Formats: sequence, structure tokens, C-alpha cells
Amino acid sequence: MELGCLNLILLLISVHCLNYSWGENSQQQRASALTVVEQTEENIGKRKEEATVEDDLDPEDIEVFYPTNKWQEVKPGQAIPAGLHVRLNLETGKNEAKILDDGNGKDGLKYWKQGSRHGMVNTDSKSFTAEELKKALKLMKQEGITDIDEGHEEKVRKTFRPIKELMEDFEAMNVVMETDMEIINRLVSKFNSTSATLENKVAALFDLEYYVHQVDNAQHLMAIGGLQLMTNALNATEPCIRENAAFVLGSALSGNPKVQIEAIEAGALQKLLILLATDQPLAIKKKALFAFSSMLRHFPFAQQQFLKLGGLQVLGQLFQAKGMESLRIRIMTLLYDMVMEKKLIQEVQDGSAQHQEKCHQYEKVNLLPPMLEQDWCILVPKLLTSTDHDTREKVLRTMNLMISSCKNEYQAMQGLSSLLNMLRSEYEELAAEEQGEGEQDGYFLGLLNSVNDIIKKLG
Ligand SMILES: *[C@@H]1O[C@H](CO)[C@@H](O)[C@H](O)[C@H]1NC(C)=O
Ligand SMILES: *[C@@H]1O[C@H](CO)[C@@H](O)[C@H](O)[C@H]1NC(C)=O
Repeated sequence: MELGCLNLILLLISVHCLNYSWGENSQQQRASALTVVEQTEENIGKRKEEATVEDDLDPEDIEVFYPTNKWQEVKPGQAIPAGLHVRLNLETGKNEAKILDDGNGKDGLKYWKQGSRHGMVNTDSKSFTAEELKKALKLMKQEGITDIDEGHEEKVRKTFRPIKELMEDFEAMNVVMETDMEIINRLVSKFNSTSATLENKVAALFDLEYYVHQVDNAQHLMAIGGLQLMTNALNATEPCIRENAAFVLGSALSGNPKVQIEAIEAGALQKLLILLATDQPLAIKKKALFAFSSMLRHFPFAQQQFLKLGGLQVLGQLFQAKGMESLRIRIMTLLYDMVMEKKLIQEVQDGSAQHQEKCHQYEKVNLLPPMLEQDWCILVPKLLTSTDHDTREKVLRTMNLMISSCKNEYQAMQGLSSLLNMLRSEYEELAAEEQGEGEQDGYFLGLLNSVNDIIKKLG
């Protein structure tokens, strides 16, 4: 049974379970987060009767309203998803509801709540694909629903499906109740299958990306040969495969030293560098840069290779490439972080052999000198024209990091000193406001100090 054809009209979620099961890969907890409620023939009959007796509804009897673009009557006791148009029809005296026409309700996923019961409906297809299921669960989590009493599951006895369909659901639910490792195995073989369509493969990568955020899952992907598979896919002919393979790699590599080592051995660094150096759509560059950063961070060996393979030149060209402006801050931040990483390691006073080894490894990574040779003195301050405080903050701290070597270039830059003076006035004002509100070490004061530092050093 494919996840993609899960035919769940409704997910009933016990949120007290969801809160702790989320992010953990225990099968039991995952299973308990999803509850399909049983219905007997007897109950179906009973509910119909009750629906006619408007004022005598059991609060646990719930019926979900499926909104469309047309006005439909809302029956008493029906749970209405959030974000709908609701009106009173004066002719009939009944409430009616429909979907807003303004794009609200994107994806057709709607959250509903009635009393202590919550759920998700898909108004587009009345069923969930794997992707929609994931989104639905995330949305549920965002709603931040709490306090459902312990006996809730026992109390909930009715559902909205005939028995036959319900049994089919349970079959489908078994898929959801696989362990993460089983899911990863299935996704990898789906991706690797020669009979899978492009759409299937991309869907498999999309789902894989979600699972490999967890350290154990990423290591499982590695153990079954999935990292090599992803690395090979970086030069697939289909752009969307290249993009999503890079995305999976980036998430798997992130903060996961074992995976970082295996991936560099599988040749991932070179292949990512090729993606960054060659003509590729922005979406691919973005994911490749993400994977590249995940590979390099806290991995001095990869940083050494990066320098040896000419990675800094590649980043410099990408930084200046037309249409790639949105990547500039990410590139600069990656370089800044790598320089700082080394600095911080070297500043730690620690005599242990492990620390000595670390320092030794970082000694071989000399990023700053080639950065100074390769025009980064000029490239970085260009970003200071941004109106975004966060961006400016990153640019200012990078400029500060390089200033002792870049002083001449900074001084010669047209308009830089007037730009710095302008920023100073702006942050003086904002810092004063901040202090007025009782903040001592405020954000804008920090920015002001940064600007002042640079101005002072430039003399
Ligand atoms: C992918 O398929 C090939 C050929 O069928 C097989 O040799 C390889 O082991 C598979 N890789 C993974 C990771 O399943
Ligand atoms: C991808 O690169 C490998 C060598 O790294 C090559 O053998 C393979 O044919 C390439 N695949 C495609 C689709 O170009």
C-alpha cells in the first residue's frame, strides 16, 4: 500500500500524545499520535437520529463540515474548519459556510476544533497524500493545542466513516506506523527503482528529507547505501532530482559528523562544488549551497578540501553571478562562520589531546588569507546597502573580522564612509529608543557599536 493513496478523510489527533511523540522515532508513540475512531453500525444509526434533535446533541458527537466554494448549510454540532466564511441564511434561518475565495485555505488543509476534539480535513480531495499528511501534522502542531484529557481516546467512539472504509484506513495506517527505518528503506528503494516515475522519485526524496533531520535516521540512510545514492543523483539529468538529492544530503549532513565523513568519501563535496560552479537554476544552487555548508561546518578536513579544490573561487564567482543575488548573504555567512569556527577553537584553553588534535586540524585551514587575495574585501561591504537589519548585522561583523587586512580597500570604496555615517545616525536613534524602553544591551546598540568600531578603525 502506497502512502500516496492514504485515504484518510479525517485525522483525529490526540494532542497530548502528539506533543511528546513529535520528533521522536518511537513507533508506538508515532502510532498513538494518530487515532482513527471506530464506528459501529449501531452508532451510525444513533447519530442520524440525534442530528434531527438539534438541542440534544452529545458534545462528543462530531460531524465535520466539508467546505467547498459554494455556500452549504452547517448542521448543528458540525465542526467547522477555521478560516471559513460563515453566514446566517435569513431565508432558512440556518448557518451556512464556504471557503474564502482569497486563497486562504491553500492546499485545502483545514484545521477544525470542537470542544476538546481536533482534526484536519483536506477539502480538496477528502484524502491525504503523504505530503499533505505531513503538512497536516505540522499544522496541527502549530495550532499548539493542549489539554485533552487522558480518557479522551476511550470516550471517542464515533467516526464519520462506514466500517468498510474504516478497515481500509486501518490498512493504510499500518504504513504510517512503520518505523522510521522501514520508511527510509522503502523510500530509498522507491527512489532507486527503475520503474518509478520521476514524480514518484521526487516524492521519495521529499519524504526522505523529512526523516534524515534526525541523526539516527541519517546514519541509517548511510548504512543502507543511501548517501552514495544521493551523491550519484547530484548529476542526474533531471533538475528536480539534482535539487532534491542536494536537499536530502544537506539535511542528512547537518550536525552529523559520521555522515559528513562518509559523504566526503563518497565524493559529495566535489559534486556539490560542480553544481555550484556550473550553470544551474537558482533552486538547485540554493540546495547545493545548503548541502555544501552542512558539509563544511565543524568539519576541518572538508574545509581543507574545499580550499584545495578551489571552492573559495567558486563561491566568489557565485557571489557575483547574475540572478544569484539572493545567495550572497548565505555565502558570506558561511565564510564568516568558518573563519570564526577556527578562531573560537583556538581561543579555548584546553590541554586535552582531543582539543590539541582539533587545533591541529584547523591550523591547516587558512581561509582568511585567500579571502583577502580574492577580492572579498570589496565584495562584502557591497551588501551593506541592504535595508534589512539582520543582513547588515552579518555584513558589519564580517567587515569587522577582516578590517585589519582590508583597511585600504574599505577606505578607497566610493560611498562607504557616508553609508557608515548614515547607518550610525539610524542606529543612534534606534538604540536610544531601545534604551528608552529599558533595554540595556539591546540589539540596535550592538549594531551601533559595530558601526562605530568600523568607523573608528578606518580613522
Ligand atoms: C540501487 O539499485 C541498484 C541496481 O538495482 C543496486 O545494485 C543498488 O544496491 C541499489 N542501491 C540501494 C541503496 O538500494
Ligand atoms: C554522473 O557522474 C558520473 C561520474 O561522476 C558518471 O559516471 C555518470 O554517467 C554521470 N551521470 C549523468 C547522468 O550524467
